[in-house]
Amino acid sequence: MDIEREYKRSLERILTGLDLSGMSKREQAVFIDRLNEQFPRLFALLVEIYGQRYDFFYYLQQLVQTLANGFAKRSNVLKQKDNARLAAPHWYQDENMLGMACYVDLFAGDLKGLQQRIPYLVETGITYLHLMPLYDSPKGDSDGGYAVSDYRKVNDTLGSNKDLEELSKALAEAGISLVLDFVFNHTSDEHPWALAAKAGDQKYQEFYYMFDDKHVPDEYEKHLREIFPQVRRGNFSWDSDSNKWVWTTFNNFQWDLNYTNPAVFNAITDEMLYLANLGCEALRLDALAFIWKEMGTNCENQAKAHSLIQAFNSCLQIAAPAVVFKSEAIVHPDEVLKYIDKQECQLSYNPLLMALIWNTLATRDTHLLTESMQKSFEISPDCAWVNYVRCHDDIGWTFDDAVAGQQGVNGYDHRRFLNQFYTGRFEGSFATGVAFGENPSNGDCRVCGSLASLAGLEQGIEQNNATLIEHAVARNLMVHSIILSIGGIPLIYSGDELALLNDYSYEQDDSKKHDERWVQRIPVTDADIQASKKKDTPQNRVATGLKTLIGLRKQYSVFGQASTRIITPHQNAVFAYQRTAKDGTSLLAICNFSEHKQRVSSITLGLGNGDVWQDLLSSVRVSPAPQELELAPYQVMWLLNSQPV
Ligand code: GLC
Ligand code: GLC
Repeated sequence: MDIEREYKRSLERILTGLDLSGMSKREQAVFIDRLNEQFPRLFALLVEIYGQRYDFFYYLQQLVQTLANGFAKRSNVLKQKDNARLAAPHWYQDENMLGMACYVDLFAGDLKGLQQRIPYLVETGITYLHLMPLYDSPKGDSDGGYAVSDYRKVNDTLGSNKDLEELSKALAEAGISLVLDFVFNHTSDEHPWALAAKAGDQKYQEFYYMFDDKHVPDEYEKHLREIFPQVRRGNFSWDSDSNKWVWTTFNNFQWDLNYTNPAVFNAITDEMLYLANLGCEALRLDALAFIWKEMGTNCENQAKAHSLIQAFNSCLQIAAPAVVFKSEAIVHPDEVLKYIDKQECQLSYNPLLMALIWNTLATRDTHLLTESMQKSFEISPDCAWVNYVRCHDDIGWTFDDAVAGQQGVNGYDHRRFLNQFYTGRFEGSFATGVAFGENPSNGDCRVCGSLASLAGLEQGIEQNNATLIEHAVARNLMVHSIILSIGGIPLIYSGDELALLNDYSYEQDDSKKHDERWVQRIPVTDADIQASKKKDTPQNRVATGLKTLIGLRKQYSVFGQASTRIITPHQNAVFAYQRTAKDGTSLLAICNFSEHKQRVSSITLGLGNGDVWQDLLSSVRVSPAPQELELAPYQVMWLLNSQPV
């Protein structure tokens, strides 16, 4: 096919029939301009995915109308935001950026309560707020809201759509970007599409993967992982309403959408634009690795998953360009990188850094962290990592076995060790964590727990041991210092800034007790916030230490748009990297990952050139550079390069 001729012809035909009546003349011109600009890319992507279908043009035309309708409904304020973001697209690389992720109910009761907590967020310095899924979802177990029954309706336990609108406005006024989940791999089995499918409506049965018998599922199954083996084996669930097997990668009430059907792409685009028009500035692409299935493969990270995401991205560029995508690909490091691109996901979780921070705390050996970051940290200068230490999910030991192998580390054995270390099955470990998703066939599992508990605070407090507590506090601050300085948006998991400990109350709740991730889904009460202000408690030391780190981050542009070089420190327990801004300012971050003093050569760190380096955290000046620097247990140095004296 002559793709250029075909896209022009298609666009011409579509424009003739396009209804732009909801827009002013000026808005029509903006829309048409953006459509013209994006259409070649969008067309090529959709031809690749759906071009073989005889009804391709019908769906293409319907899609463009959906985009026009979405744009028409977008408020003027958001349209202004679109223009502002198009003019300054790298906003998320700013040193002022600081993220937080929280559950509305756990953090503030409901949406109205959250609005009242905005001063706390502002005081903490938050500029990016990811609210865990707040849409209508099944009562009882809804996978923490990741089973969506209606993307357009706020879960009534959290408030109303109007509350969300108001909150969105209030956050914008406070300079906080709202981030929402785009749960587009699956819906709940109570979504109207799923209900229609259950009732036998063929149109909606084609929205999912449904099979009369186990024959085809078994063929797929040969190559698939199991995500929640503790609750259900395999990836398919029997639906007794329709008498069919349904593809359910996660829980049996989360039905995977069938993106081989262009009607699904269009319908989900419509939902996406609804979310965009609520005023969110980033959408978190939940479970994006799973959206395309291909027989004979593991059905993760397929080429067409990338094409689909790029196509969604292109739709946003036309109808709501202020919104960026954040990738939630918790997969092999090489695969994580493939989602990161200006035209795919501008932002991405950094699961490799997260997992290796925990790995290094356990081993006190930075080799795997250093080499993995040297291999995988660099991404497109148009994009940004979202760096985190904990989140609402489990920790999976995602690292590249090849990189580990070069260091003589066997990936399989090492993961077993890490699981034991963090779940109380390794003598001498400081961590208090819980095993999650244990696979009865191979003993594999992942780890849950709050940052503070995993870092040793729970044990320290239980044993009333001042040294353990001190180390736990220092670990907490050190790991936060890394996400605050290494480059990207630091994302604090709500409660970690107050060093909250594991919450075991889920064990008493029938809808939660089978899912250990609830141990780190902890209410953040006013009392917790007050307690963190009481001088010299561990919580207070974490909260105030973190405030200092955050304050410094926001003060120096070298924490914002700058390049990162991971240094080989030739010292087992030391991790070091250098950030260099366009104006030549440089920051050298050095961390000691052990409870013993470390000495590190200033030459290997690049300090031997006679410049003056000032530690932002201790006021020590290094000038001229001494032969060696000494770091106390878990000490961090942020050495800023100023001009030679
Ligand atoms: C994502 C979420 C996780 C959820 C899963 C299914 O990984 O972070 O909490 O269980 O998707 O939606
Ligand atoms: C799997 C998925 C990841 C999700 C997690 C939830 O690891 O790859 O996306 O966060 O399950 O437990």
